[in-house]
Amino acid sequence: MIQIIENASLKKLNSFGMEVQAKYLAAVHSSVDILELLDTICQQNEKPSQTPLVLGGGSNILFTKNYDGWVIKNELKGIELIAEDDDHVYIKAGAGENWHHFVINAIAHNWAGVENLALIPGMVGASPMQNIGAYGVEIKDVFHCLEAVHIKEQRTQLFYKNDCAFGYRDSVFKQAYKNEFVITSVTYRLNKKPVFHTKYGAIEEALEKMQVQTLHIKAIADAVIHIRNSKLPDPSITGNAGSFFKNPTISKMAFMELQKQFPAIIGYPVGDDQIKLAAGWLIEAAGWKGFRRGDVGCHHAQALILVNLRNASGQDVYQLSEDIRASVEEKFAVQLEREVNII
Ligand code: FAD
Ligand code: EPU
Repeated sequence: MIQIIENASLKKLNSFGMEVQAKYLAAVHSSVDILELLDTICQQNEKPSQTPLVLGGGSNILFTKNYDGWVIKNELKGIELIAEDDDHVYIKAGAGENWHHFVINAIAHNWAGVENLALIPGMVGASPMQNIGAYGVEIKDVFHCLEAVHIKEQRTQLFYKNDCAFGYRDSVFKQAYKNEFVITSVTYRLNKKPVFHTKYGAIEEALEKMQVQTLHIKAIADAVIHIRNSKLPDPSITGNAGSFFKNPTISKMAFMELQKQFPAIIGYPVGDDQIKLAAGWLIEAAGWKGFRRGDVGCHHAQALILVNLRNASGQDVYQLSEDIRASVEEKFAVQLEREVNII
């Protein structure tokens, strides 16, 4: 029996800590639960104005209003080795497994590939949604397949890597199939022999400080955890959803023009003629780092992160993001695209 709560508070279910309500909230623990719930929703006479919203850990969402519809809290658990060959293990995880717990479990078994993605908040089911990434690794690098239930047609579909259109913080589930599927499990292909990624950011420096003699995946995860803890706000203390915007990409020509005016501007080559700019640098250079307006602010150590310092509303955060976008566009003629899902 699925428990359904009417007019449920979502405050504890989103990392911004926004006090909003869902018309209906239901937690699902199995694929059978999902099919049963979708059936109930279909048969419901009173039709809410919004399609069902699937919620994992709520760490990449900004609620700007109450949700006049069904919120489905994904609680599907389980981590299982389903196949292996000489070099790889195939690990299937329930969409409602905590992502960091999944990483720690992989490291404990010596399965390599996700150690650079330690401490990213949220659930397994959301990991392919925006192709989560950090410290030189993205989910697409270890993704094998996922199972999902089509919300309207109530059928199960299997998606392999080529079906997912993974891009930088992007997938088919944020584009053509937006709000169409409930992801129920994800299968990752992890390595028996580790390939270390230590070149990105401050990993090497952190490893040196830790005096690591023989490199291993746990040391990399520890280094990443150390770096993340030193600059990212903890959502259990300060409401946030990580990077609010994506790092924008511009042409090499446009970058060289900007460099003339702003010699310190930070950019990384992407392919032959594109440059990915550090949005955090642009926002800081536009004067927003540490900015505070009432209870909403721009984090003092990482300008790309907008924070709810106490009782800010989703509208307050959204308005600040609009103001930041306008000022970055005015100063650098660069448009920032939001990474966080706005509801
Ligand atoms: P939610 O916020 O619950 O949902 C995100 C989106 O996915 C929503 O549109 C939701 O409807 C949909 N969704 C969720 N689960 C399912 C499902 N099972 N089926 C269908 N749709 C679903 N992200 C990075 O990529 N890299 C980082 O380094 C990073 N660092 C962060 C640091 C902090 C402090 C915070 C707060 C966030 C960070 N994030 C980062 C963003 C966030 O953690 C990830 O996007 C994460 O994958 C979101 O997981 P979630 O379960 O909380 O998703
Ligand atoms: N920077 C500034 N000022 C700031 C913030 C950053 O000048 O206020 C500069 C830094 O000094 C650095 C560069 O910008 O030279 C990049 O900063 P950082 O290494 O902190 O990474 P980021 O580009 O801001 C991205 C991801 C993060 C991910 C880290 C590590 C995006 C949108 N964000 O942040 O992902 O954890 O790299 O790989 O791509 C998320 O998606 O929510 C997220 C946190």
